[in-house]
Amino acid sequence: MSENTTTYTVGNRTFVLDKEKADAAIAAKAVINGRDTMFFNILPLKYQWAYDLYKTMKNNHWEPEDIQMQTDIQQWQGNDISDVERWIIKMGIGYFSAAEGIVGDNILHVVRELVTAPELKLVLGRHAHEENIHADSLVYMISSLGINPHECEAMFEDIPTIKAKNNFVVSNSRALRRDVDLTVLENKQALAKNIFMFGQVMEGTQFYGLFGMILSLYRQNKFPGIGQMFRYTLRDESNHIEVFRNLLNTLITENPDIWTKEFQQDLRDTMAEGVRLEKEFIRDCLPVSAVGLSCEEFEQYIDYISDRRLVNCRLEPLIGGVENPFPWLSESMDLKKEQNFFEGKVTEYQKASALAGADDDEL
Ligand SMILES: [Fe+2]
Ligand SMILES: [Fe+2]
Repeated sequence: MSENTTTYTVGNRTFVLDKEKADAAIAAKAVINGRDTMFFNILPLKYQWAYDLYKTMKNNHWEPEDIQMQTDIQQWQGNDISDVERWIIKMGIGYFSAAEGIVGDNILHVVRELVTAPELKLVLGRHAHEENIHADSLVYMISSLGINPHECEAMFEDIPTIKAKNNFVVSNSRALRRDVDLTVLENKQALAKNIFMFGQVMEGTQFYGLFGMILSLYRQNKFPGIGQMFRYTLRDESNHIEVFRNLLNTLITENPDIWTKEFQQDLRDTMAEGVRLEKEFIRDCLPVSAVGLSCEEFEQYIDYISDRRLVNCRLEPLIGGVENPFPWLSESMDLKKEQNFFEGKVTEYQKASALAGADDDEL
């Protein structure tokens, strides 16, 4: 190799690039305000984590139709399931039908538009695609069980605590659309806040109330197909939380002016507001006692999760020292621990090299 070339390794492939050009390309890559080009020049890679997560996410691919719904249909039509349990399923489908769309829209119209490095756009494209899979899995649940979709829609439109949860994130996303000038500090902070809000507050915390409810039913062998789809969704969400956390941390490393004391406090206040809305939603809407849990423990679980999100973003926790009241819930979210889980058709998507499931850290 001559002095003028340099070697890059991506997975098991090696590339020899002109050193000067490669150095210039790396120097021009940035989370924001980097070189804006139509050419999708992933090489040379600057953000290895983004490329690695893209691969992990792609290897976790699943299709709703591969999940058996026979037992779910029998249970739905039979007498062993209570009306409250049916209501929890409809609430889960109703809330996530709206939420998946909101998250996907924010990725495509805000975050993926504003970042400039191609490998970041790559992983965000996959992230948006996974929100489509999640939305499609809800269609599959509705059609398998014969639920009227308008009933689920009504959940989203008529229930004030769900509306409040959604307005909280949508107003932030609308305020920040593609043409914003990211050389202005105020706008950089608005983007950083958007990334924190969607990744850590919404996907990272506000999804977990209903996830907990549905996995509690799953634990009692109720709606195994739906439970399995939610477990796949949760594995995906844990990667989404990581994508957005890495994005936030890298953005701040490259733009340390964002990270003022006031801004850090603003993010903590945003999390506190998200937690308040989630607890209100739990108290108003989730019949936790129907799945054998207590409301206090459920709220403690939200405190536990939200503090972890903050600490992982180098922020002070809201409470600190909160214990996880539901270790079984983390366990049932962890696909790695269940040996036989990948048996069946879904395995075909899963390459042996990528059997690593959700990162324990996210659960
Ligand atoms: Fe999702
Ligand atoms: Fe997500």
